[in-house]
Amino acid sequence: MDIGENGAEFVVVANRLPVDLERLPDGTERWKHSPGGLVSALEPFLRSHSGAWVGWPGVSDAVVSPFEDDGLLLHPVELSAKEVEDYYEGFSNGTLWPLYHDVVAQPAFHRHWWNSYVRVNQRFADATAKVAAQGATVWVQDYQLQLVPAMLREQRPDLKIGFFLHIPFPPVELFMQLPWRTEIIRGLLGADLVGFHRPGGAQNFLWLARRLVGLEPSRGTVGVRTRPGVVQVGDRTVRVGAFPISIDSAGLDAVARRKETQARAKQIRADLGNPKRILLGVDRLDYTKGIDVRIRALYELIADGRVDPEDVTMVQLATPSRERVDHYKTMRQDIEQSVGRINGEFGRVGKPVVHYLHQSVNREELVAFMSAADVMVVTPVRDGMNLVCKEYVACRYDLGGALVLSEFAGAAAELTSAFLVNPHDLDGVKNALQAALDIDPAEGRRRMRALRRQVLTHDVDRWARSFLEALGTQTSV
Ligand code: ADP
Ligand code: F6P
Repeated sequence: MDIGENGAEFVVVANRLPVDLERLPDGTERWKHSPGGLVSALEPFLRSHSGAWVGWPGVSDAVVSPFEDDGLLLHPVELSAKEVEDYYEGFSNGTLWPLYHDVVAQPAFHRHWWNSYVRVNQRFADATAKVAAQGATVWVQDYQLQLVPAMLREQRPDLKIGFFLHIPFPPVELFMQLPWRTEIIRGLLGADLVGFHRPGGAQNFLWLARRLVGLEPSRGTVGVRTRPGVVQVGDRTVRVGAFPISIDSAGLDAVARRKETQARAKQIRADLGNPKRILLGVDRLDYTKGIDVRIRALYELIADGRVDPEDVTMVQLATPSRERVDHYKTMRQDIEQSVGRINGEFGRVGKPVVHYLHQSVNREELVAFMSAADVMVVTPVRDGMNLVCKEYVACRYDLGGALVLSEFAGAAAELTSAFLVNPHDLDGVKNALQAALDIDPAEGRRRMRALRRQVLTHDVDRWARSFLEALGTQTSV
C-alpha cells in the first residue's frame, strides 16, 4: 500500500490521530502519543505499511495543516469546543460508551448531542473523501464514527470501505433503547465489511439489520476470522465478521528482553521496598475498568488477614481520561477515596499498600512495570477486548507472573489459562487474587506458556491482515 499522486491508497479514519496536541501552560504546544487501545493497536501496523490517517488532534479549535509523521500522512479534523462537548464528551462518551458497555452507567439521550454527532461524522466523511485516491481502501474506526461509512459511500462509491468497532456491540435489548438506532445501523451498512471483536457482536448487528432496516441477513453462525455473515443492501453485499484485535506481541517481547528493561524492573521492585509480591493494574481511568473492584478485593483480603500488607504492594497506573464527563469525575473521586482508605488503614510511613499514579508512562517504562509485577490484575466489568492483559503476557518471556482477568473482557475468550473472574463476585475476585499471589511456580509457568502461545501467534498484524483480506484489500506493502 502506498500514497498515490492523487491521494492515499489506504486511509484510516479514527476520532483521534495517533498523536495528541498538548497545550502547555506557557503557551507552547507539543505532540504526544494518544491514549487508548485503538492507537496502541493500529499505530504499529500503519507505521509499517504507510498510508494516511484522518483524525482529531485532541484539543478544540486547533487549526493544523496535514503533516507527515514518520512516513504516515496525518490529516487533522478540527472540532470546536462546543463539538467536543456535544459530539465527543456528549454523544460518544455520555450516550454510546455507557450504552455499549452494558449500561454500567446510565446513558443520556440528548437531541443536540445527536445533531452534533451527525455534523461531525459528516465532516470526517468529507475530509476522507478528499484524501482517498480513486478506488482506495478506507478503514473507519470505532463508535465515534458509525455514520461515516454511509456518508462516505454517498460521495465516493468507488471506495472500498471497512468499519471496525473497538468496543463491545451491545445486546439488542439495550441497543433498542437508542432513539437513533436505525440511523446508526444504516450508517454502518455503508461499509463493505463491518467488524467486531466477538461473533456475538456481529450476530447482534445482523439481527438489527433485519429488525430495523428490513433486510434479509444470512442466518448461519459467524465464526472468528472466518464465516462472516452477509447481508444484501441493494446491489451491494455487506459482510459482517468477528476479528479479535491484538498487540505488537513481538515488539513488546523484544523490549522486555532488553537488559535496560530488566534493570529498570529491578529498580522498580527496589523502589517499592522489594515486597514479596507486586500486584499491577494499568488502565485508562474509566468506570468500565473495574479499578474499584480490585482495590476493594485487596482491602478485604488484608482485613480478613489473608494477605499481609508487609508482603504485598499494588501499583495502579491510571491514564487520565475524559476528565470533564460527569461519570468520570465521580469515579475518580471514588477511586482516590478508596486508595486513601486502604493506605490510611493498612499502610505505614514509607510503605503504602497501593501506589496510585494518575499518569501515563512511556512504552519502555510500561514494559518494565509489567516485567516487575507478579500479578497483573485486569478486572473490567465490560471491555471490548482489553489489550493490557495481552501486553502483560507478551512481556513475560521468563514465564513468570500470573494474570487475573475478567470474564467480561473480550480477551477472556482467548486467554483461558488466566485466572478468570466475574468482577461482580467479590469473593471470587479475592480467591483468584490469592491463588495468583500464591501460585506454585511450575503451575505459573505452565499457564504463562499457554497464554504466550496464544498472544504471540495472534498479534495485531494478523488481526489487520485478516480484516483487510476479508475486505478484499491487498495487504503487502
Ligand atoms: P482502552 O482502549 O479502553 O483504553 P485497552 O486495554 O484496549 O483499553 O488499551 C489501553 C492501552 O493504553 C494499552 O496499550 C495500555 O498499555 C495503554 N495504557 C493504559 N494505561 C496506561 C498508562 N497509565 N500508561 C501508559 N499506557 C497506558
Ligand atoms: O477503543 C476505545 C477507545 O475509545 C478508542 O476509540 C479511543 O481511542 C480510546 O478508547 C481512548 O479514548 P479517548 O479517545 O476518548 O481518550
